Amino acid sequence: MSSSPYPDVDALRELFPVTEQCAYLNHAAVGTLSNRVRDAMATYLSDRALASGLVQHEYVSEDLRCSLARLTNATPEEIGLVQNTSEGLNLAANALPLEPGDNVLFCDMEFPANVYPWMNLQPRGIETRCVPHHGGGLTLEALEEHADDRTRVVAVSSVEFLTGFRSDLAALGAWCRRHGCYFVVDGIQSLGVLPMDVKAYEIDFLSCGGPKWLMGPAGQGFFYVRGDLLDQLQPPFAGCVSVAGWEAWRDYDLTFLPDARRFDLGCGNLVGQVGLLAAVQTLLTVGMNKIAAWTRHLTDLLMEDLRCRGYRIVSNPSPERRSAILTFAVDGDVDQAYDRLIAADVIISKRETFIRVSPHCYNTEEEILRVGEVLGDAQTRGLDD
Ligand SMILES: Cc1ncc(COP(=O)(O)O)c(C=O)c1O
Repeated sequence: MSSSPYPDVDALRELFPVTEQCAYLNHAAVGTLSNRVRDAMATYLSDRALASGLVQHEYVSEDLRCSLARLTNATPEEIGLVQNTSEGLNLAANALPLEPGDNVLFCDMEFPANVYPWMNLQPRGIETRCVPHHGGGLTLEALEEHADDRTRVVAVSSVEFLTGFRSDLAALGAWCRRHGCYFVVDGIQSLGVLPMDVKAYEIDFLSCGGPKWLMGPAGQGFFYVRGDLLDQLQPPFAGCVSVAGWEAWRDYDLTFLPDARRFDLGCGNLVGQVGLLAAVQTLLTVGMNKIAAWTRHLTDLLMEDLRCRGYRIVSNPSPERRSAILTFAVDGDVDQAYDRLIAADVIISKRETFIRVSPHCYNTEEEILRVGEVLGDAQTRGLDD
């Protein structure tokens, strides 16, 4: 195994056809598919056209749950499969034992996937508290200031979608444990690019879709639920495969499976699972620490270059709060800056009045520096040149 702290970027570029077309720096919006993912899904579909396909892919769900457990430091029994982040978070919101008068706390930088499921509990008498962000996300200080003894859930993203603020999951999780709160995390902006340890962070429930940093297909995600919490949760739905002994179709015995599969309802999205499995296996082989180190190196370069050029960095610059997302303000019309980057085949996102850049393991230094090259200096050169 190589002793370099970085992945073999040249080898990775061979896996990602998008590298032949553009500088793709937009994984916080949607990731790209590697050849491996594409080929695994294509093979599945070809096999599925033959009867033998059913047998060959019988174990994909189990393999996927094992790989996702490795990715998060969970056990396979604690991993369930859902379509997307929103579905997993809705599951948490509706399965946790919340009472009228309890409150759920989140900050005003949260993506709505982790807001609406909680607001949807308001008719049941659950209060939601949207607290101001500090420096781009939810801080321990803000939590302490706004929580009270009826705070039962703290809902947060591991990385905030707009600012790239990396939440202090260890501190927030420890606070939740001390105060008897459930800690619910939206992991989609960090899983696949930063290491995750659900045990170290004392996370109760985590949900994550596949198509961003995991670079899997759309429509396949997963959730983690802390094993010893399972019996406190009331599954909001019951399907034909949610129960122990489900293959005895006409027993009608509603005894839920002992693990996270109790939330499975029926036939899963096997083509999506095959794709996500190939994606996660690829990431695990590269190594999450190496991916995190390389994307930090790239965003360091970008931050330095943009500062020299006179742009204002919106992302929190503190090393502990940095992620693989770097957001900055342009000097003038953001639409124009966005259009110029896209026209130059530098693929990024425009979010509110900012430009958001989000590189992954296969991006190069040359690619990340294209952002500044295309935009030029903020103060000496107008955006309409
Ligand atoms: C923090 C966060 N959560 C969730 C999502 C997407 O949710 P879903 O997986 O339900 O489509 C996004 C997409 O931008 C996001 O940034």
